[in-house]
Amino acid sequence: TNKSNIYSLGNVKTQSRGPESPVPIMNLSSFKKLPQWSFEDIYNLDAPLIPTTCPQSLRNSKDEDFQKVFLPNICMFLHKDNFNIREWNRLSHFNDPFGFMGLKYSDVKPVVKLIPKPKEPLLLPKPGGDGCVHCAVVGTGGILNGSKMGTEIDAHDYVFRMNGAVINGYEEDVGTKTSVYVHTAHSITASLEFFKEYGYKSAPHDEGIKYVLIPEGLRDFQWLQGLLKGEKVSSGEYQDQEPRAYYSGQFSEDRFYVLHQDFLRYVRNRYLSSNDLSGDYWAIVRPTNGAFTLFVALHTCDTVSAYGFMTEDYSKYSNYYAEKLLSEVTFYINHDLILEKNLWKSFHDKKILKLNI
Ligand SMILES: *[C@@H]1O[C@H](CO)[C@@H](O)[C@H](O)[C@H]1NC(C)=O
Ligand SMILES: *[C@@H]1O[C@H](CO)[C@@H](O)[C@H](O)[C@H]1NC(C)=O
Repeated sequence: TNKSNIYSLGNVKTQSRGPESPVPIMNLSSFKKLPQWSFEDIYNLDAPLIPTTCPQSLRNSKDEDFQKVFLPNICMFLHKDNFNIREWNRLSHFNDPFGFMGLKYSDVKPVVKLIPKPKEPLLLPKPGGDGCVHCAVVGTGGILNGSKMGTEIDAHDYVFRMNGAVINGYEEDVGTKTSVYVHTAHSITASLEFFKEYGYKSAPHDEGIKYVLIPEGLRDFQWLQGLLKGEKVSSGEYQDQEPRAYYSGQFSEDRFYVLHQDFLRYVRNRYLSSNDLSGDYWAIVRPTNGAFTLFVALHTCDTVSAYGFMTEDYSKYSNYYAEKLLSEVTFYINHDLILEKNLWKSFHDKKILKLNI
């Protein structure tokens, strides 16, 4: 039987339960590959954006393929005011981080209700500038080693980084400033351990930095609860940890953003729909944090320059720019790095972004 039909939108609506109760928990193990729902490719949108004052904005691209899929006002951030039981029931059909499949309403709801609605857009044009928001996104790829791109990177209005963003000792190649740091609970904690040998001591914490969280799963909601309340995490993988300590005094509710499941699913469905989503490991197949970061930039900046991402000649470089010895790029089943590499190349060819070293 086709399990995905059991939960078709019609059935969910007609189940005998009040409008105020959550749908029965759907489990990943019920599906042998990514289920396809009639409402799979429908996303919440925010109010239409004010027309950009930037003539060369990527939003004005004439590329037809890009215009067909690009949603400039896709709903980007999850917060207490755009979450309710209907949203929960809709998003319960999608595996994490694209929805809440397998999670319990009572675990997630109280946390989402703590997330304040963002007061301002993630980025605004710099006063006195050319009316454009110019961004650099710095990946962690080995291609940056010895690149001397630091000055060029820092010259952008805003610099995005993610994961183990090692800077000390690498300034000449990767620059110094971080305006937006994108992370998961796992990446902000595990990177400290993983990159310790390269002198990485803390996540970037420039004055006024904005933090963006990718909510991957239950542990991220547990993390968020501690973070937003300024308390220790009360249960789960990070129990008794103090999330705020990881932000080195720069955590502020006003500068903290949580990506919306619709935004993450839109990125997967429309740009990075890997063949591996039809395989046994479908439930863990997802774009990299670097890819999500690049897409956040593509939806909040007018121009985007990418550094340290996968390129055609990746086999000449290490996994990470911080590594001293050459390592072969590792392919894990959960990320389709070749698909990502090809997408960046096609965006570069279409002048949607500039793919640098
Ligand atoms: C999913 O798992 C939960 C908890 O283990 C269980 O209560 C529920 O019946 C399961 N749902 C399905 C559709 O198998
Ligand atoms: C990094 O760059 C330096 C200087 O260009 C070079 O000597 C070294 O072999 C490179 N390391 C790796 C891991 O590629």
